Amino acid sequence: MTDTAPPRFTLDGDEVPFTPGETIIEAAARAGHWIAHLCWHPDFAPHGSCRVCQVEVDGRAVTACTTRARDGQHVVNRSATLDAMRKTLLQMLFVEGNHFCPSCEKSGNCLLQATAYEMGMEGPHFEEFYPDRPVDASHPDVLLDFNRCILCELCVRASRDVDGKHVFAIGGHGIGARLLVDSASGRLVDTDIAPGDRALEVCPVGVILPKRRGFAVPIGERRFDAQPVSAQPHPLPSTKDPRP
Ligand code: SF4
Ligand code: FES
Repeated sequence: MTDTAPPRFTLDGDEVPFTPGETIIEAAARAGHWIAHLCWHPDFAPHGSCRVCQVEVDGRAVTACTTRARDGQHVVNRSATLDAMRKTLLQMLFVEGNHFCPSCEKSGNCLLQATAYEMGMEGPHFEEFYPDRPVDASHPDVLLDFNRCILCELCVRASRDVDGKHVFAIGGHGIGARLLVDSASGRLVDTDIAPGDRALEVCPVGVILPKRRGFAVPIGERRFDAQPVSAQPHPLPSTKDPRP
């Protein structure tokens, strides 16, 4: 390496240059490499909660979305061990909520579903919780189906950091953690959410959905129906319009 060459690390043997300060997942995505993730989004500060992006750096397990890239490090991403860990995390997420992919508007555009396919998940493995989570259909233009929430906090970050509002919040702890609508009534209709808010478009699963636009693109013709998540351009294009 010359003095002016950028620092670099290896990712499953491929060299990845990076700008000092970048995280492993940022540099990898910019270079076109996919590292599985759910709570990370290139437009937002990392959250580090889902653990799906876990990689091995020189033998140590770390989350790629919160770990800065360092010159000369060797990163393992797609190994049988790491993918098995990711599959287990995904199976736990699936049983913790109510995810019925064939009837979900987000099927084929859902990062949870696409990542589960990529990790070879064929069933829930664990016993389903079947929690009771009523939908919020109070708003004239937006439906909230809490059954599918994976607590990634992207809507919380988008509403707070981009929209300058506080429409969403996470309440409770551990297994009792839940997405809340931050209004006196707890209903979406009593918030100041508005068309064009970033919080409306950032959900990686099928919780926050526009009304009257269901199944505009048939299942089978959507983003992840065309190409698995690992073969998509990276970082993934904006989820502004979740339809391909
Ligand atoms: Fe994440 Fe969507 Fe749940 Fe918000 S509603 S925390 S964006 S899964
Ligand atoms: Fe890194 Fe969720 S994407 S912890």
